[in-house]
Amino acid sequence: MANEHHHDGPTRFYLFGGKGGVGKTTLAAAHALRLAGEGHRTLLVSTDPAHSVSDLLETRLGDQPTAAGERLWAMEIDPEADARAYVEGIREDAEAAVSKAVLPALDRHLKLAVQAPGTAESALFDRFTRIMTWCPGDYDRIVFDTAPSGHTLRLLTLPSMLGAWVEGLQAQRAKVNKLQGMWRTMAGVSEPEREDRVLVRLRQRAERFAEARRRLHAEAVFHPVLLAERLPIEETARVIEQLRDTQIPIGALYVNRLWPEDPASAFVTERVAQQNEYLAEIRDRFAAFERVEVAQSARDIVGRHQLVDLAARLGDAAPD
Ligand SMILES: Nc1ncnc2c1ncn2[C@@H]1O[C@H](COP(=O)(O)OP(=O)(O)OP(=O)(O)O)[C@@H](O)[C@H]1O
Ligand SMILES: [Mg+2]
Repeated sequence: MANEHHHDGPTRFYLFGGKGGVGKTTLAAAHALRLAGEGHRTLLVSTDPAHSVSDLLETRLGDQPTAAGERLWAMEIDPEADARAYVEGIREDAEAAVSKAVLPALDRHLKLAVQAPGTAESALFDRFTRIMTWCPGDYDRIVFDTAPSGHTLRLLTLPSMLGAWVEGLQAQRAKVNKLQGMWRTMAGVSEPEREDRVLVRLRQRAERFAEARRRLHAEAVFHPVLLAERLPIEETARVIEQLRDTQIPIGALYVNRLWPEDPASAFVTERVAQQNEYLAEIRDRFAAFERVEVAQSARDIVGRHQLVDLAARLGDAAPD
């Protein structure tokens, strides 16, 4: 069975992923509330640009954890600001390594890199790996509102790809250093050998990623969120496929916003009939996984009161 959700130790990290608007932020917040209610010191990490979590928890949140309830902390990351800082870090490393003449070209390149697809996601994953080191310790559980896409997780967690990438860079840097060292010796400059800053940072990042990879396998669970509709079903199948080799376990699928089975009108009857067809397909096609089926509330879920209601409903519906 693909990525069966079975840890020897406790599950510490929860990642909610899915198409836009399916309810990742809402369900992640409710789940965090539920974990805190069960006695775990829980951190909710959101990347929602609309500050939905601040609204939901009725707490002004920022880039660092803020207390948001009993045993509950939350933070809102701005992925774009993060991507800029990430690229700036790379720029500083590179500046130390290249000659002044090529700096303007490097700058132009990095400006483009900030906007390149994938940069924001890589930066986010980098940030996630740092946040993961806070648990256990400051927190018992961490809930990530939006998981990086299956594609990104694949790129960053498959040891072969990441390992080859970092090793290649390291080999390149080592070669440059050796040449520079030889040059200095020939020139009679007897500078004490200081360890290359770029190499050190590369190695640290590689180690942090390797550790995150190990912990994503041993302590994390990925919850796909979907609706009983065609596009989210296909997206979910794709994510499960992409995650297959990454060793990240797949937990319960959250099938959100189900219509109530109240045949009050022909419209509702028709809507519910279609939903039931899709729901049957989801139960059948993803039979290998557990499921949490979440009824659509009559009202949008805004603010703490409704979130508490939803958290209680999840407690009734959830398999664990
Ligand atoms: N079970 C539910 N019942 C009623 N409304 C819901 C439910 N789940 C989510 N919603 C509403 O659906 C909307 C989208 O939810 P949410 O913001 O959690 O989605 P998201 O997947 O985080 O979106 P994005 O991809 O934009 O970050 C919100 O208005 C939310 O209140
Ligand atoms: Mg969201």
